[in-house]
Amino acid sequence: MTASARQEIATLLRNRRPGFPLEAPFYVSPEVFALDLELIFARHWLHVAVEPEMAEPGDFITVELGTASIILLRDDDGQIRGFRNVCRHRGARLLTEPRGFVGNLVCPYHNWTYDLSGRLVHAGIMGRDFDPTCLGLKPVAVRCIEGLVFACLAEDPPADIEEMAADVSPYLAPHNIANLKLAHQSELIENGNWKLVMENNRECFHCANHPELLRSYPHLTAVGAQAVTAEERADYEAFQRLHGEFEAIWEAQSLPWRAIEKLDGRPTGYRTQRLALDGAGESFTLDARAACAKPTGRFTSPRLGSLHLHTQPNSWNHFLGDHAVVFSVFPVAPDKTLVRSRWLVAKDAVEGIDYDLSRLTEVWNATNAQDASFVGWAQAGAADPAYVPGPFAPAEYQVNSFDNWYVERMIAGLEGPARARLAAE
Ligand code: FES
Ligand SMILES: [Fe+2]
Repeated sequence: MTASARQEIATLLRNRRPGFPLEAPFYVSPEVFALDLELIFARHWLHVAVEPEMAEPGDFITVELGTASIILLRDDDGQIRGFRNVCRHRGARLLTEPRGFVGNLVCPYHNWTYDLSGRLVHAGIMGRDFDPTCLGLKPVAVRCIEGLVFACLAEDPPADIEEMAADVSPYLAPHNIANLKLAHQSELIENGNWKLVMENNRECFHCANHPELLRSYPHLTAVGAQAVTAEERADYEAFQRLHGEFEAIWEAQSLPWRAIEKLDGRPTGYRTQRLALDGAGESFTLDARAACAKPTGRFTSPRLGSLHLHTQPNSWNHFLGDHAVVFSVFPVAPDKTLVRSRWLVAKDAVEGIDYDLSRLTEVWNATNAQDASFVGWAQAGAADPAYVPGPFAPAEYQVNSFDNWYVERMIAGLEGPARARLAAE
């Protein structure tokens, strides 16, 4: 990309109007997409997996980030490790499947072989003087937080991941995520830029168009008192009473529930909060009752509401008393994004006895499909010459926070090298 193209993008970022979505190029331009991969996805902690996806030594997943690919696997000592998916001989892709099991990592080209710690253990006919010890796989930084797996491609990953770990671990720990079982996963390609996928997730203004989700998810959750209209007041007060009931449940079980919100102004942005659910209050099902008979974690009753965790730039997660559902977002093209969803249940839960897969997944499968439509419409609109960013509602403040974070991180990335150069001169 030319220096002037970078300069133009930097100017657009600096001129961004707070309280409004981004200008069209941020959703449609191939140059911006390339910069997103370079400055956001290659430099920040990404939500890439949950430990139960790699339950046994040798289990792996791969994550594609533009032209980069990473391998995440569980090694022989039970640790989750990350590697660049590039052979150290002549660079071939080592693993081409999204998930699977390996004893060793064997390159499909000339069969160089790496063990699960990334060490080169076999290289064939390389000659007597060949030294394999310095040709191990390039590592990728990995940080597991209570069963959630974060990875960072940078050589100096943002240190504030530790603050996030300290903040969110007490909320996550009772759910014992590392010891849950992967019941189902889905991969959905949405026809929109990754930022439109994230923006769509960061508000529930549109939740009236999620009838299945609204059977359990209180529509007013994300609306503060100041945003409630006269017609909504009775519903709002009912929600406040419901929340009071759940607060008593959480307090009785020593479950932290108050919101922690550090969505912008920092490299690692996040938000967590425990929230009430409507009706039976147990799960994201059509009757709001548990989808799985075996509770998760240390719980004995599923009536716990939902623990939310949002992480910038690419995830949202819900942890309930009977299951968990976690989502990671990966950019594919300026107008294409992969949403990876996983449903987790107690390790000893048996499909067909303790849970029915279609009942477990139907609400979020429907919600994902609806969200994919919304994102597709937003992408079409952003590509239309008539597009002009319109104002956010108060209930959309987290969309604004996401855009704030994105703009800050992009500017930091664009200015960083220039500043470093100046300081060195
Ligand atoms: S490129 Fe992998 S063994 Fe040759
Ligand atoms: Fe939605």
